[in-house]
Amino acid sequence: HGMEGEAPNVEDGIFNNPLKIPQTISSTSTLSAQTAMDTLANAKQTPVLGYGNGLLGPTIRAQKGQNVNLNFTNKLSEHTNIHWHGLVIPATMDGHPDHMIMPNNSFNFQFPITQQAGTNWYHPHLHGLTGKQVTEGLAGMFIVESPEEKALNLPSGAYEIPLIIQDKRINTNGTIQYNPTMAEVMSGYMGETILVNGTNSPFLEVVSRFYRFRVLNGSTARIYNLVLSNGADFYVIGSDGGMLPQSESMKSLLLSPGERADVLVDFSGAKVGEMIYLENKQFSGMGDAQGVQGYKIMSFNVTNAEKDNFALPTALLPFTKLSGATKTRPFKLTMSMGNSREGMHQINGKVFDSDRIDEIVNLGSTEIWEFDNTDGDEAHPMHVHGVHFQILSRTGGRNTILPQESGWKDTVLVAPKEKVLVILKFEHKGKFVVHCHNLEHEDDGMMLNFEVI
Ligand code: C2O
Ligand code: CU
Repeated sequence: HGMEGEAPNVEDGIFNNPLKIPQTISSTSTLSAQTAMDTLANAKQTPVLGYGNGLLGPTIRAQKGQNVNLNFTNKLSEHTNIHWHGLVIPATMDGHPDHMIMPNNSFNFQFPITQQAGTNWYHPHLHGLTGKQVTEGLAGMFIVESPEEKALNLPSGAYEIPLIIQDKRINTNGTIQYNPTMAEVMSGYMGETILVNGTNSPFLEVVSRFYRFRVLNGSTARIYNLVLSNGADFYVIGSDGGMLPQSESMKSLLLSPGERADVLVDFSGAKVGEMIYLENKQFSGMGDAQGVQGYKIMSFNVTNAEKDNFALPTALLPFTKLSGATKTRPFKLTMSMGNSREGMHQINGKVFDSDRIDEIVNLGSTEIWEFDNTDGDEAHPMHVHGVHFQILSRTGGRNTILPQESGWKDTVLVAPKEKVLVILKFEHKGKFVVHCHNLEHEDDGMMLNFEVI
């Protein structure tokens, strides 16, 4: 099917707004979803949702082995909830779409952090409302730290920066427009304003040394193919679920909605006064996915020469390959045009029904899940709750597992014509979801329940 109504192109900014850095809170504190005003574009005031005084929310930091205790209050006039994307925690705390927190109600999120250091995030997960609430501003980063990771002496403090990349369509009066048409439910909502940490046209002043960037694609549908304008490498040290066994140097970094990349960038060769851009490099092979053209996202302005004695560690954290799967479970990803704008996207011929259990999995078992998009012409970043997985193979399209995908993952891009096999081990009982993280697809019903018993 051809796409009518091409999304407007992103125009390069002038990068004159200092990059906002979300404040950091500990994992034993309070959090609320609330309305706020923020300045996103055109110097206009924009009504937004957030977990603080503006768009987005604080970065939560927790230690491996620690117990999270976050008292959450819904100060919105609509219901919401929180999914801890990337945290492997009990089902009752995971933010299943069944879990509704009504206006003026609170919920105490309590769970242990049993996983390794890594970059995770949090956002609402109500069926049919996820895309809207995330686009209006509800999202934040959740960083897990560990002593093993600390011992690597990676750049930290002012040299460790979260980069939450999102696109939004902002009306001339300043309001965010999110009301996907049928065409956008298929191809995805594309905003022409690219924000980083909620900052429009941002710059970050850097010194000529190594930095650590924790990059999150927090967009609903837009895929980014990130490059640095000076041709420098990204040294990828971590993926969704934690650190890679060793760093991988990459010239470009393909990141689909929900995925994270933990990267080091070496500015030591840069000259004072230089501006290095983080750009989207034009890409192809994603079917109807729009927004594939090249554009600039933000600028790094080199202000000072500074020496660090940082040397890239040869080994990061140990990584064990999963094996011994006892079952292969197929998930067929399809799309069919209907008259209604709901239920066009299906998994195994089904549209999400919160009361129906679609798959039953045994606690402690290891399985192979097969995401089959061979009939499809849309890109689907598939996300599984309650587990981390490893990618075994990708065939039919790109026929490759990218170096940045070689570690623990929770979201994997399944491009048109591709079949991706992942291996997973189920450590928590209860009802979880598997879904496409293109949030227009998810809200359209491209999600199933599975229960671990
Ligand atoms: Cu980030 Cu089920 O979602
Ligand atoms: Cu999808």
